[in-house]
Amino acid sequence: MSLIYHLKLSKKSLKGARIALLPGDPGRVPVIASAVNNEEASEIACNREFRTWLSMMDIHPVIITSTGIGGPSAAIAVEELAQLGIRTFIRVGTTGALQLNIRAGDVVITTASVRIDGTSEHYAPLEYPAVADYGVLNALVEAAKTVNVRCHVGVTASSATFYPGQERIDTFSRYVIRDLAGSKKEWEELGVLNYEMESATLLTMCNAMGLRAGCVTGVISERTQKEKIILSKIRAAEGNAIAVAVTALRRLLTDYPSSPSTTPR
Ligand code: URA
Repeated sequence: MSLIYHLKLSKKSLKGARIALLPGDPGRVPVIASAVNNEEASEIACNREFRTWLSMMDIHPVIITSTGIGGPSAAIAVEELAQLGIRTFIRVGTTGALQLNIRAGDVVITTASVRIDGTSEHYAPLEYPAVADYGVLNALVEAAKTVNVRCHVGVTASSATFYPGQERIDTFSRYVIRDLAGSKKEWEELGVLNYEMESATLLTMCNAMGLRAGCVTGVISERTQKEKIILSKIRAAEGNAIAVAVTALRRLLTDYPSSPSTTPR
């Protein structure tokens, strides 16, 4: 039985799963797997930042794999899961809000991402858009209505770094290079909703390879007010993003089951 290099998974261990939920944090994997199905969830691999659980939604196997932080490791997770048969990916993460009306604990559903992640340029030139799959996006938006979570739908800035790329200056050097100085204000002015670190890689590479992807994130910082993470809101934000993703998953598996072809474009 050959195991894929980073994820340490075999095709057989996925039990024919075609859909994966992708948190960044390995610690969130069992939480999401249990939210999918509390009774049929188990760990099938754990290597480096990549922790994978298999869960079941009714008769459908569902994979939950952590991507770690940022584009490079997210791209590895998506590439290897695609090789093993996954065709639909939903990122379930956390985010910093860039608009005043978006509050900690709300969720953001990404329609498209500003590609300041670096990694996505290895999959398509910068002119190529990082857009969510329409079916996945629609399922996430409908799911947010169903679970009655405060939700914002729009463009996300997907940064390669947590500190300078998101213009944080409460740092060791207190310095942000000229190219990034003023970028936060600019994204705000352009109506960008939020900062996170994986969606541009995910959406670009999935579109480029004929895979489906979407992204829902829970708000844990209000960047119009301050830089710090609002620790008291992490649990609520994560819980809301997970509730939306799991409800969307049910919809995708029942109402919209057809997957893209098994071969890459
Ligand atoms: N994730 C980010 O990338 N930035 C934030 O501010 C919060 C979560």
